[in-house]
Amino acid sequence: MKVLVVGSGGREHALCWAIAGSPMLTKLYCAPGNPGIAAVAACVDIGATDIASLVGFAQDNLIDLVLPGPEAPLVAGITDAMEAAGIACCGPTKAAARLEGSKTFTKELCDAASIPTALWERFEDAEAAREFVRRRGAPVVVKADGLAAGKGVVVAQTEAEALSAIDAMMDRRVFGEAGAAVVLEECLTGEEVSLFALCDGEDALILGSAQDHKRVGDGDKGPNTGGMGAYSPVPSFPAVLEQACLEQIIRPALKEMVRLGCPFRGILFAGLMLTAEGAKLIEFNVRFGDPECQALLCRMKSDLLPALLAACDGELRNFDLRWHNESAVAVVMAARGYPDAPERGSVIGGLDEAAAVPGVTVFHAGTAAGPDGSVRAAGGRVLTVCGVAPDLRQARDRAYAGVDAIRWPEGFCRRDIGGKAL
Ligand code: AMP
Ligand code: GLY
Repeated sequence: MKVLVVGSGGREHALCWAIAGSPMLTKLYCAPGNPGIAAVAACVDIGATDIASLVGFAQDNLIDLVLPGPEAPLVAGITDAMEAAGIACCGPTKAAARLEGSKTFTKELCDAASIPTALWERFEDAEAAREFVRRRGAPVVVKADGLAAGKGVVVAQTEAEALSAIDAMMDRRVFGEAGAAVVLEECLTGEEVSLFALCDGEDALILGSAQDHKRVGDGDKGPNTGGMGAYSPVPSFPAVLEQACLEQIIRPALKEMVRLGCPFRGILFAGLMLTAEGAKLIEFNVRFGDPECQALLCRMKSDLLPALLAACDGELRNFDLRWHNESAVAVVMAARGYPDAPERGSVIGGLDEAAAVPGVTVFHAGTAAGPDGSVRAAGGRVLTVCGVAPDLRQARDRAYAGVDAIRWPEGFCRRDIGGKAL
């Protein structure tokens, strides 16, 4: 099989790394990829959202399966475009990707399918939104309705904070049209867990749980990021709870998507809050998380490729995946200045030494090859260093042994990934 992975982050490196070992594979491409991905796949210089060029490449190269990593190409309709060209694509159609692309769509689906979630109301009028905040008070969560690169959510602890978020999103349109409407939500409290499932439209196969660390600094301080580290599985999220979420959240969502005429195929990422009243859905994403994907795939024993194919073909019902009975910790190394203004161009050494640490795998994200053959920082999140071991503590120690082998003074990471669970 010829496979094309779309994207260029640590998640896509992990996907390529997992697929590269499949006996079913004859050729692996990644668009646009990165220098780490280039070690396991042929990188193609096409942007992840240049859908017309990606379809052209897939046709010219007789690609059998396309796997988009990030949400942007999915929300833009890459699956529809590939399928129209007769090429299998393991991801939701544009209509099904509304589960991530529109908060309102997901909230209406939750209500229709009785999926436990925070109480909510949608506003297209800023004054009505402000009035709601004044009446209901804080804490309250303010969300831009559309995609805002993970930044369109404000958990407001005070009324003033909520009002200023409404100003920024609706009046000043800091997220553009994503802020044409806002969703105001009840503030949930508890522990946050991410649950991943591979879906074929009707059926879902649990891939496992992970916990992300969204803030840039130790102790959850500082601004939000795309994710500074993750561990998997999550000890406070036992298998019985995982099953309950499958039955009460994921399956009802799939059923409702079928009823709406847009069955969901691909990776479904349920962001959950474990509240005193049970698990509630915060949001769906329509793809793997980054860096959660790196942690999950390090634990996977089965071949990923046939599972992806079964999802495309609607044949997950009798499918089974096997996992190593181990923990994984993924530590993100970012360039100084991330998330606001990451410095570019610094040279990263020690990558081979890090990869030689037992149980450690290093995935590239924002890296570029320097003219001298060096690896250089070329983005915000630059590397993910993963450690795998029989328990979480050892997995963490291994991941940080990998981090410490890397010579990159201009980079930084959080030192407390997995700490909460220990
Ligand atoms: P989202 O982009 O929807 O994942 O939201 C980003 C983050 O905001 C989540 O990971 C939560 O930490 C937080 N959040 C979102 N919705 C709520 C809510 N209703 N109550 C409490 N926290 C929330
Ligand atoms: N790490 C969170 C995400 O990928 O959305």
